[in-house]
Amino acid sequence: GTTGITELLLSRIRDVADYPEPGVVFKDITPLLADPAAFTALTDALAEVAEHTGATKVVGLEARGFILGAPVALRAGLGFIPVRKAGKLPGATLSQAYELEYGSAEIEVHAEDLAAGDRVLVVDDVLATGGTAEASLELIRRAGARVAGLAVLMELGFLGGRARLEPALAGAPLRAL
Ligand code: PRP
Repeated sequence: GTTGITELLLSRIRDVADYPEPGVVFKDITPLLADPAAFTALTDALAEVAEHTGATKVVGLEARGFILGAPVALRAGLGFIPVRKAGKLPGATLSQAYELEYGSAEIEVHAEDLAAGDRVLVVDDVLATGGTAEASLELIRRAGARVAGLAVLMELGFLGGRARLEPALAGAPLRAL
């Protein structure tokens, strides 16, 4: 049941205090990835979200969103599309800049990977401030595709990402396991 999966996943996420800087508690998913039962349960749960949302493609956000998103795409029988940090994709890209606490960042997608008629599920490990996810939803919209939803392993609720994403999601579901 749901409770069992939640407990399994939680038991495989390690809190690392003061990483990468003092005052931050880092959520380390490497114990989960190293446990095939937990990784399979996570993949199955996210693939179920892909199926329920009617997604036709899965986008993963670099880097941990690649690890989670690729098996989800295969399990759901969908194509996988990487959204990368700027400067890594060789083809024609769409780019989206967004603000960080200090400075800014930029992510990109191959423009030809998304088209009108696509319904895209975005997969990532953690929703924190929502800046990365918001920029990815904007890329999908600019490519002419539709957002099927956003599925993450963890949502850090105290950072307010869910409220920030409301306009960009435009009614599409945000599912945090
Ligand atoms: C982390 C995480 C999300 C993002 C969440 O990625 O995996 O992608 O930050 O933060 P936000 O909601 O405040 O935007 P990170 O930038 O550390 O990249 P990595 O997975 O390549 O380490």
